[in-house]
Amino acid sequence: MMMDPCELSPSYVRSLSPYQPGKPISELAREMGLEEASIVKLASNENPRGIGPRTRAAIEGAIGEIARYPDGNGFELKQKLSARYGMDMGSIVLGNGSNDVLELVASAFLGPGRASVMSQHCFAVYPLATQARGARIIAVPAQSYAHDLEAMAKAIDDETYVAWVANPNNPTGTHARQEEIEAFLKRVPERVIVVIDEAYNEYLRPELRAESVKLVKRHPNLVVTRTFSKAYGLAGLRVGYAVAHASVADGIKRVRQPFNVNSVALAAAAAALDDMEFVARSYAENLQGLRQLGEGATRLGCDYIPSHGNFLTIRVGKATEIYKKLLKRGVIVRPVGGGYQLPEHLRVTVGTAAENDKFLSALTASLRE
Ligand SMILES: Cc1ncc(COP(=O)(O)O)c(C=O)c1O
Repeated sequence: MMMDPCELSPSYVRSLSPYQPGKPISELAREMGLEEASIVKLASNENPRGIGPRTRAAIEGAIGEIARYPDGNGFELKQKLSARYGMDMGSIVLGNGSNDVLELVASAFLGPGRASVMSQHCFAVYPLATQARGARIIAVPAQSYAHDLEAMAKAIDDETYVAWVANPNNPTGTHARQEEIEAFLKRVPERVIVVIDEAYNEYLRPELRAESVKLVKRHPNLVVTRTFSKAYGLAGLRVGYAVAHASVADGIKRVRQPFNVNSVALAAAAAALDDMEFVARSYAENLQGLRQLGEGATRLGCDYIPSHGNFLTIRVGKATEIYKKLLKRGVIVRPVGGGYQLPEHLRVTVGTAAENDKFLSALTASLRE
């Protein structure tokens, strides 16, 4: 009998369940016979405001150059990030989305016989990236939906080389204060790379927005990751980065593809750093949207996890059923059962006021049906 080629991959790859992204609008339109324009997608924590004016102009300018390979070193973007953070350019690693950077960290520091520690309800990429390297997952029970950093530090064993902390966390929207992060860093052995994933940093209230990048100077095992996919509105272009001690950054860059960030993304991200008014507006509108969704959920008698991100995770009861009922009404949200272990919740991205309204009406009807 012919061998199934899939059987040739290592058992830890065969047992992977691929990442489940939010359902694309075009797919739902095909399945339900709906007009794409009538569908609201609040499933992938994108920015409903689009992009800023400088970013748009930079994208248009960069299109003329796409016959050429990008600058593999991303000089201009690194220079701007380096100036913003007061860190050497050698401390910055660019990625095809911050997801790429997380995968690079896993490639550089994990492998069979090694382990990484993470929280229950953490971002799905951490267990996937760990398992794909044949490394062991140490999942630590959450405390009130948030990372229990003390327990995570205690769970580190001799084989642990990476600790993942999303701050704020997706899908719970919980946040650890700077003091807690610092206490964690003090507890963790220097051998363990601590990834503080700050994809939602720009949505934090200003008094909570800590200068975590500065901690890299005191903690050479710290890797801070950020992205242009959320508040900067560039999810479709894929660009994110890590800031780390130069020697750690060097280790990560060894496993990077030579041109992992495309030229349009590089130009857009560099310009986006000058579109800070756009980011400030995105922040302010997100706060209003969170309030709108929270009040709507409360009116419907649904609890929610207070969020520091651009999404709200709402307890709706039979979440899979409600998710499907919402789809029929042209509203895509994100179920967070399965690996996220929140089978009664749905995660809803903050949209425009009109999109949030549409979701709340669809949720009202779906809960009543
Ligand atoms: C916590 C967290 N980290 C990282 C990412 C990856 O985002 P990107 O690859 O678009 O930068 C996401 C995306 O949803 C996220 O929620």
